[in-house]
Amino acid sequence: MTVAQFIPQTYTETVAQGKVTWESPSNIALVKYWGKKKNQIPENPSISFTLNNCKTITTLTFEKKDDASDFDFEVYLDGEKKDDFKPKIETFFKRVESYVPFLKDYKFVVETQNTFPHSSGIASSASGMSAMALCLMSVEKQLVSEELSEEYFNQKASFLARLGSGSACRSLEGDLIVWGENEVVEGSSDLFGVKYPYAVHENFKEYQDTILLVDKGEKQVSSTVGHNLMFNHPYAQNRFAQAHDNLEKLKPILESGDLDAFISLIESEALTLHAMMMTSMPYFILMKPNTLEIINKIWAFRNETGAHIGFTLDAGANVHVLYPKQESEEILEFIKNELVAYCQNEQYICDQIGFGAKQVQ
Ligand code: PMV
Repeated sequence: MTVAQFIPQTYTETVAQGKVTWESPSNIALVKYWGKKKNQIPENPSISFTLNNCKTITTLTFEKKDDASDFDFEVYLDGEKKDDFKPKIETFFKRVESYVPFLKDYKFVVETQNTFPHSSGIASSASGMSAMALCLMSVEKQLVSEELSEEYFNQKASFLARLGSGSACRSLEGDLIVWGENEVVEGSSDLFGVKYPYAVHENFKEYQDTILLVDKGEKQVSSTVGHNLMFNHPYAQNRFAQAHDNLEKLKPILESGDLDAFISLIESEALTLHAMMMTSMPYFILMKPNTLEIINKIWAFRNETGAHIGFTLDAGANVHVLYPKQESEEILEFIKNELVAYCQNEQYICDQIGFGAKQVQ
């Protein structure tokens, strides 16, 4: 696939107005994407679990307008007009316009809501941008006479989502998605996410992710600033090579169900992501004291009980606690008794591996 394949033939159908709704989940990376080239091309491959409960539901209403000289849209979050969301969507529209060239022909109303609290410190960009990209593809589907294959529809939606927010391209399907060209996963691409095509052990079915909300504030480092920190970073090339290695190491782990090796790999990835931030210029510490308290408690509990509990982190202070479904009773008990006290207002979200976006009729 090349970029040119996502530029549509001329639209043959006329659609005066319509409405489409998609819900799309968030995802949590196991091997992290950190660092990008021009046009949202990742410096290294990444792989993520698609989540199930943390999602964005977006309705796009569209009506043909006479004057096609500019974008025309309004945005609502939870029913409230959100003009401060407009610049982000305008940037997205500009980036994708050549691939969905109907954008200036319609007036759009974007109505969006998240199933997780807005100020939870959980980025809504992956779920939000993927939901938006899917809505645009549903509009395009009505404008072309030929049937779009499901594969093309998903690939192009992932391609568009990537242009909104890199990790968003991994949210459309499940349950494991790979993004970034690499030698381990056949069919992998820098342009869109693909389903992980190899054997995955039963141990990873319904894998649990309990998200501990340590800091619900605004992100201290936006992802744009964060990715840019990898330019001229002294360890950048080693880190990019390590991500390829870790993806390669993950393949037999996913196949055999070796949970100890899985935990070592994902925790190392999480700490490496933060190490990159601590060793860039300027440098940042995004973990909070309670992030470290939680990590130490997880390690102690694991040593004492042998439970297969591990963690990963995003570019922030919140902790994703990952564990197999089979051990969830004991581990959730531990989380409630020992870890929740370190969360802001004792807030946490129970999620698990999911299977991607759905169109809502
Ligand atoms: O999609 P972005 O540009 O917000 O970057 C996300 C980066 C991490 O969440 C830190 C890692 C990842 O692969 O999701």
